Amino acid sequence: MKGIILSGGSGTRLAPLTKVTSKQLLPVYNKPMIFYPLETLLKAGIKDILIIVAPDHPGDYLKLLGSGREFGAKFTYEIQDKPEGLAQAFIIGREFIGEDDVCMILGDNIFEDDFSETIKNFKSGGHVFAKEVGDPERFGVVKFDDNMNAVKIEEKPKAFLSNYAVTGLYLYDNRVVEAAREIKPSARGELEITELHNWYLSKGELKVDIVKGDWIDAGTFESLYKASELARKKVLNNT
Ligand code: DAU
Repeated sequence: MKGIILSGGSGTRLAPLTKVTSKQLLPVYNKPMIFYPLETLLKAGIKDILIIVAPDHPGDYLKLLGSGREFGAKFTYEIQDKPEGLAQAFIIGREFIGEDDVCMILGDNIFEDDFSETIKNFKSGGHVFAKEVGDPERFGVVKFDDNMNAVKIEEKPKAFLSNYAVTGLYLYDNRVVEAAREIKPSARGELEITELHNWYLSKGELKVDIVKGDWIDAGTFESLYKASELARKKVLNNT
């Protein structure tokens, strides 16, 4: 299983904090934001990790994370020239992924849960993780049937679909590389990750688990602040 941390984008929602640095390098209490998704992958035993960054600050990432040796891992870097969608990561990462399965995490997503067992036991298909939220319109949203089987996934639905947001941790088998090449840009000009979920869903091969602990997409002032609060609590409680 290879790992990808998608850490590009322009971070405009956090301006002016992001004027001179990348969003995912901003502090979340005592660590740069990207350390949290990185730890999620490392904990699950993923050691071969591609870090995809925007063209603005690659040197800062290299300085912070280096070869990966310090983390007992191996890091590879790629640049995403423009933020043309989450699914583009599997096009940029094609050679890196090779014949392997892949676990991608967004550089601004912070999870409390430990996904080690799920990731280690992954066999095939797609596997995503949903969390009940109060503002589902901000996210990809999944609707379940009465048996909690996913029946529909939509990106930022205008009409209410459900309260379950699809979080930024994704497990796919190697077919994702081909699936990503097939999809077309959406109305907002992006290769949507939701299209990949639907590719697997239409084949009956998408598993959706519920995230039990806290999950924060730290891309707004409010959520960045909450992420720092949560991290501080964990440091003080030593958990
Ligand atoms: O956080 C979970 C949500 O992430 C999912 O529920 C949605 O399905 C998914 O589309 C995504 O929605 P966002 O609106 O949060 O996406 P955003 O454009 O904010 O990008 C998420 C992160 O990925 C952000 O840290 C920037 C980075 N990114 C984004 C794009 C579009 C890239 O590195 N490259 C890109 O092309």
